[in-house]
Amino acid sequence: MQGTTFEMSADWSSTANAGPNHTEIQVPSGQSRFSDFETGRSGLRSTPPGRADEALRASEERFRALVEHSHDAVTLLKADGTVLYDSPAVTRVLGYTPTERIGCKVFDFVHPEERAAMARGFADFAMRAGAVASSEGRFVHKDGSTRWIEGVRSNLLHEAAIGAVVVNYRDVTERKRAEEERVKLEDQLRQAVKMESVGRLAGGIAHDFNNMLGVILGHTEIALSRITATEPLHVHLQQIQKAAQRSAELTRQLLAFARKQAIAPSVVNLNEAIVGTLRMLQRLIGEHIRLRWHPAANLWPVRVDRSQIDQILANLCLNARDAIAHAGQVVIETANVTLDHEVHGDHAGFARGEFVRLAVSDDGSGMEKETLAHIFEPFFTTKGIGEGTGLGLATVYGAVKQNNGFIDVLSEPGAGTTFRIFLPRHLAGDRDR
Ligand SMILES: Nc1ncnc2c1ncn2[C@@H]1O[C@H](COP(=O)(O)OP(=O)(O)OP(=O)(O)O)[C@@H](O)[C@H]1O
Ligand SMILES: [Mg+2]
Repeated sequence: MQGTTFEMSADWSSTANAGPNHTEIQVPSGQSRFSDFETGRSGLRSTPPGRADEALRASEERFRALVEHSHDAVTLLKADGTVLYDSPAVTRVLGYTPTERIGCKVFDFVHPEERAAMARGFADFAMRAGAVASSEGRFVHKDGSTRWIEGVRSNLLHEAAIGAVVVNYRDVTERKRAEEERVKLEDQLRQAVKMESVGRLAGGIAHDFNNMLGVILGHTEIALSRITATEPLHVHLQQIQKAAQRSAELTRQLLAFARKQAIAPSVVNLNEAIVGTLRMLQRLIGEHIRLRWHPAANLWPVRVDRSQIDQILANLCLNARDAIAHAGQVVIETANVTLDHEVHGDHAGFARGEFVRLAVSDDGSGMEKETLAHIFEPFFTTKGIGEGTGLGLATVYGAVKQNNGFIDVLSEPGAGTTFRIFLPRHLAGDRDR
């Protein structure tokens, strides 16, 4: 349909004599937009014909100017969502000329994810004469980009002079982006504060607990050395020792999470450190999973504790193994990366700089959003009792932080998981950071 097919144009060419609650919009017919109007309407009857014409023309001009120069775009829709009129501002907001969308369904310009809901909402709205509603949603610009649009619509289908749903709207994409960014930063901050306080708590308990375990283990050892293996008490003491050793392992992980591990960092080429662990990792994950290794050439050095790199890799590979039901693959990759705020706005506090990135990916189950939100918390596990303690990633998190790095994760259900660890590049002359 072209811009000239305004079957209802006679109804829309309203006059200037409406009451205060009456929205008047002049709608074009034919080529000359807004130039046709009815004359001799009731309120103007008493005016001599020539002056009535003039008054009407002036009024028509005024309303045309209002709509056409309005900063907001104005669109008129039929009850079924067909576009009857687009004001010139539509070009600025959605990229279409004022005639391009005439006759099309407005829902075709809505983001596919919102299309069905918007059509349902509109159908309901169109039934309610006189209704006014504000809304916000995503539309697709002519250039293919997604735009957030905020608007107010009025159901004036029953108004003889208009006979349409009138929508006033504007592009709020920038504001929306800024809001999303702010929410994301707040979330990150909240998460960081939570991890910090959980870390302090866990670290405090683990520290004291570890000391007491030392006493238990020491005394058990002395007692065991004083009796022979045939004595009935021997087996009980052995059980105590085993349990205490297992507890000591747990507290060691907690201390790692709380960044209280005693570490011995040195300048390391990560590629070399990883190559040394590949055989061990392959054994850990089993034959059914292929381990692939993609080292970057000329990798920058980092300053880390090598044993923590082993710890990180072992934990990530074990998790990958658990996430792969049958056969699959785990890829370990290194790269030099330079981060700037624009690209990595996700990492508040680590906005810029040169990093060595270590990525461990698997093609396993992937994770739901709710799981992702908690994975680094100590004791968070989705595994059964006896299968996981939920300390693996907490340990990884602590180790990465202790080495002044940061970690992120990309994962989707059914699409596998990638953990990425960023460690600061070590430059000659750098000392402890
Ligand atoms: N690669 C992965 N793919 C899918 N889910 C994962 C992956 N890595 C971690 N997870 C999820 O994160 C949870 C926490 O992991 P974490 O390593 O901290 O604990 P765990 O593996 O459950 O137990 P633990 O490592 O102490 O034996 C897991 O239970 C699992 O749900
Ligand atoms: Mg684990």
